[in-house]
Formats: sequence, C-alpha cells, structure tokens
Amino acid sequence: MKKVPAFSLPWRRRSKKASQKESSATPFYVIWDSVARFAAEIRASNFMAEMIRRRDAYGSEGVMGAPDCATLYGLTRWLRPAVVVESGGFIGMSSAFILKALADEKLTTARLYSIEWSENCEQGALIPDELRSASGGFVPLRGKVEDFLRRDQLPSSIDMFLHDSSHSYRHMFWEFQEFWPRLRDGGLLVSHDVQMNAAFPEFVAKTYAHDGKTGRCDAERTSHYEWGRWGYIGFAIKKVNR
Ligand SMILES: C[S@@+](CC[C@H](N)C(=O)[O-])C[C@H]1O[C@@H](n2cnc3c(N)ncnc32)[C@H](O)[C@@H]1O
Repeated sequence: MKKVPAFSLPWRRRSKKASQKESSATPFYVIWDSVARFAAEIRASNFMAEMIRRRDAYGSEGVMGAPDCATLYGLTRWLRPAVVVESGGFIGMSSAFILKALADEKLTTARLYSIEWSENCEQGALIPDELRSASGGFVPLRGKVEDFLRRDQLPSSIDMFLHDSSHSYRHMFWEFQEFWPRLRDGGLLVSHDVQMNAAFPEFVAKTYAHDGKTGRCDAERTSHYEWGRWGYIGFAIKKVNR
C-alpha cells in the first residue's frame, strides 16, 4: 500500500481560529460550526446541482441524498484525511463528495479506497472525470468488505471510514467494530443510514466510560472525543487512550 502523508488533528490545526475558551476546554467543539459552514457552501454550489443532475439521469435508487452528501463533504473537509475507506461505493455519489472535499482542501496525495461488492453496477460512474483523475485519489476495490479485511488488503491505519454497504444491524455493528481499531487518534467513523437500526448508537454507547461518583462521562477512559448525528449520517471521533 502506497504511503501517504499523515494528517494533523483538525482542532490543533484550526485552534488559532477558535476562541481561547473553545480551544482549551472543548477543542473539538468547533466541528459543529465548521461542518455546518462547509455543508451549506456545497449545498448552494454548482457542484451539488451537477451531481443531482447526474444522479437523476442515472437513477437515484440506493444513492446518498443531498443533505447527507453535504454533511459528508463537510466532515471530510473538516478532518482533511489522507486515507479514507468507504464500504458500499456503488455508483459513487458518496465517493464524489468525499473526492470533492479532498480536492477543495488541496489534498493531492489523499486516497479514497471505495469497496463495492456488486458486479452489476458501474462502480463510481457518477464521479466527475476531473475528480477521478485529479490525483489518482479514487481507488475502486471490487469485492466484499469481509474479504478485503480477511485478506488484509486494506490500509492498516485509516483517517476516515464511511459505512454505506449492507444496513442490517449485524453487519453495521460488525463494520464499526472492525474499522474502529484501524482508525488513528482523531480519526472519523462515519455511517450512513444510522436511523435504520440501533447499531450506531449502541456502538457509540460502548465507547463511553462513566465516573463512578458523578455518573458523568469519564473523559480519560472514554474512547471518543465527540460524536453526533446529522440527518441520516452518524459520526464518532476516535480517541486513543494511552
Ligand atoms: C446504499 S448503496 C451505496 C450507495 C453509495 N454509497 C452512494 O452514495 O452512491 C449500498 C451498496 O453496498 C453494497 N454492498 C452491500 N454489502 C456489501 C459488502 N458486504 N461489501 C461490499 N459492498 C457491499 C451493495 O452492493 C450496494 O451497491
């Protein structure tokens, strides 16, 4: 697997822009503002209009909707990842917004490994040519997520993982459990269609540790920095406890 430069934690990078209070006590708090701003920007863009036109011309069945694409774009821009893996790449609506975010952040060496099982779809067909070829950043992988993991054919360290394959409770929970350990400190677990079952909230619940006296989150032992849900997108920021 080709080596790509490491990313730096967004709240360290952007902390100068945040107020003193935010940057020291709640350094990840800026994510809400940043992602909302990026999402609003892309929703109003010609790129969004063009992607909706492409999607409708191709057939919108099974592809990510516009609000969730905007959130995904915002999360990707906020994180500035070097290595992204997505399950369920399909015809590439989600892939296009991840690649657009990487391009807008000028992350020319970043890679998106997009896993799609079905032979009956034109993988990544919706992705505009200029994004596909800009940096060779789009890496389509044909097969089951299970098989790529079993054969150890995915990057061992991932900055961002997007689940959008099979939406059964069992499969979603399994993917979260498999990819969470591969995420680096500050990496993002993103899931589409979190409303379909309890897998995402239950997975996040397992990352909490509680203080015996107060019953509140014990930040030292909890293994996420932040988590949330916007529309049908859920996200959790991984924290490595040392
Ligand atoms: C909801 S669609 C993905 C939509 C896509 N992310 C987009 O926005 O255009 C789900 C896809 O996951 C694929 N899939 C389901 N189970 C899978 C698995 N175990 N491994 C890889 N792909 C899988 C299906 O073939 C289907 O194309």
